[in-house]
Amino acid sequence: MRALVFEGPGLITVADRPDPSIVEPSDAVVRVTRAGLCGSDLHPYLGREPLARGTVPGHEAVGVVEAVGSTVSGIEVGRRVIVPFTSSCGRCGPCLDGLSARCESGALFGWRDPEDATVGLDGCQAELVRVPLAASTLVAAPDVSDPAALLLADNLPTAFAAVHRARPQASLTVVGLGAVGLCAVAVARRMGVGRIVAIDPVEARLAAAVGFGAVAGVPGHIEPTSAVIEAAGSPAAQRTALGCAAPGAVVSIISVQTSTEMPFTPIEAYDRNLTVAWGRAPVRSILDSQLDFLAEVAREIVDAVVDRPGLKLDEGPDAYRAFADRAFIKAALDPAR
Ligand SMILES: NC(=O)c1ccc[n+]([C@@H]2O[C@H](COP(=O)([O-])OP(=O)(O)OC[C@H]3O[C@@H](n4cnc5c(N)ncnc54)[C@H](O)[C@@H]3O)[C@@H](O)[C@H]2O)c1
Ligand SMILES: [Zn+2]
Ligand SMILES: [Zn+2]
Repeated sequence: MRALVFEGPGLITVADRPDPSIVEPSDAVVRVTRAGLCGSDLHPYLGREPLARGTVPGHEAVGVVEAVGSTVSGIEVGRRVIVPFTSSCGRCGPCLDGLSARCESGALFGWRDPEDATVGLDGCQAELVRVPLAASTLVAAPDVSDPAALLLADNLPTAFAAVHRARPQASLTVVGLGAVGLCAVAVARRMGVGRIVAIDPVEARLAAAVGFGAVAGVPGHIEPTSAVIEAAGSPAAQRTALGCAAPGAVVSIISVQTSTEMPFTPIEAYDRNLTVAWGRAPVRSILDSQLDFLAEVAREIVDAVVDRPGLKLDEGPDAYRAFADRAFIKAALDPAR
């Protein structure tokens, strides 16, 4: 098969790789019809997070089941599916608690350990992807376009997690308006949050948020809100988020953390009675109860968010460069092209 391959920071290539096959009886192999490029892919690409050289990157996919192992039930060959960005067993403590992203036997697609590349999983920026624990990981895709279904593999459930944790009432601030932040604006709006302040230095992204019903905010010049989401992924953005938080606020940090230092002191958190939430979004658990709602939001926003909806794999290396320069909001690769 053809696949993108991470060869080191700033270096993505297109290569021929062996087709993935069924390794465990609980596996499936999925033929990818769209794979997303996500802000999380930029962390290793920009050298902020270690990743084994030779890894096939990518953790967001929609596709069609090509093969299933002998113990897989409920998901058959030919079924159109969403691949949540982590695999999960559905039976361990975290899975039963609705935290599929921290499944005791789960793994993140597109991440292999730089110390031992046999640990971890190849990703889905490829023609085919192997999915462990297929029956409890894959979700039958609803009747939406492939780019819209792709938003259900990560960005929309992640945004839902961010909004749910922030517990917004009348107002919310969202710092960082990539696909995750924009999805958070759209989800919060649909949940009835009246005033949403949106912050991002990129004009086109700010304009998209305003199109979803937010007002453009300038850091240092906004009235603090009791709920704040940080979806940018830097200590500077977390400082901005903190600056937007009213006393007693919930600050919902949904970005992936690559820093070893806290962005604020315990004294600041204490003095302002803040609640801070962090961590990976449990996509599979969220889709169990929110699939219909999020599919409706996906239909509404897909054209504004996925502004590169069908790139060839050969365009992947250039797409990584352009994405790192914030030249577009979100790209979907179509490996069949
Ligand atoms: N927790 C999870 O489960 C989960 C899931 C998906 C993505 N993520 C993370 O969420 C974050 C956002 O993902 P994305 O795909 O939207 O990323 P992205 O890189 O496309 O978007 C980030 C946005 O933040 C903006 N930004 C950067 N610095 C800023 C600042 N100081 N103030 C305001 N805005 C700033 C950028 O201009 C950009 O628009 C990333 O860190 C990603 O890794 C987390
Ligand atoms: Zn992602
Ligand atoms: Zn589990």
